[in-house]
Amino acid sequence: MKIFIDSADVWAIKDAYETGLIDGVTTNPTLIMKSGRHPEQVYQKLKDMGIGDISMEVVGNAEAMISEGRRLKAKFGDCATIKVPCTPDGLLACRTLSKELIRVNVTLIFSTAQAILAAKAGATYVSPFVGRLEDNSHSGVEVTRSIVDVYKRHGVHTEVLAASIRDVAKVTLAFWNGAHICTIPPTVFEKMYNHVLTDAGLKIFDEDHKTTFPTERVGGDMDALGDISYPPITGTDDGFTYTINTDDPLLDIDFGDYNEDDPRIGFIP
Ligand code: G3P
Repeated sequence: MKIFIDSADVWAIKDAYETGLIDGVTTNPTLIMKSGRHPEQVYQKLKDMGIGDISMEVVGNAEAMISEGRRLKAKFGDCATIKVPCTPDGLLACRTLSKELIRVNVTLIFSTAQAILAAKAGATYVSPFVGRLEDNSHSGVEVTRSIVDVYKRHGVHTEVLAASIRDVAKVTLAFWNGAHICTIPPTVFEKMYNHVLTDAGLKIFDEDHKTTFPTERVGGDMDALGDISYPPITGTDDGFTYTINTDDPLLDIDFGDYNEDDPRIGFIP
């Protein structure tokens, strides 16, 4: 189960990638245009971040797609996945590039029939466009499920990469229906963390934690507390001089309520 980011916004991708939960990136000519950058500038930045699977879309006839695919693979190495449309030219390019062990993502898939042809052409990934199917009153999730079923029945190794995903519910549904990968915009990825009950539960836990550790000085990080050295505190009380070893992060310093038997507190005569 892999999550790809569907974007050419390098800063948004960087934020998502730094979570450690992202397995790749898909781009397309529209996303590249929106980024305002040259495609190769985007690919290079993503490669420099360490992203190991970047879909780079090529255009033109089969010959043009093949030569551009080879060039991109030579230039960017193993992180390059060549993205071609599900057309006769695109699948010819897919067949040639796949034979050369270049990963190919066949995009603009809207039916199981197209996914069957893409698998026959040796595609590494097929990208059913879930959102655009839904825009046209077809169930994108159902098409995804159908492709997954056919591939399973026939032992096909091509992976189903659900694309054109615009909300969190579709991510869940796509995976639930067997998609191997979902590619999602950074905003959808961020929303995957959210649940109103998590927020409500966290608020209660934070308040209860504050009640348990009212003097805690480092926000919530008990491991960090263990690394901090606090100087002992000395004072007098009722004729005694006392020292408190504040190096103990679990010690609740309460001058009005200390326990003379507590081994952490020493009395100086
Ligand atoms: O990966 C394909 C995706 O970018 C298309 O998404 O929202 O334009 O249909 P959308």
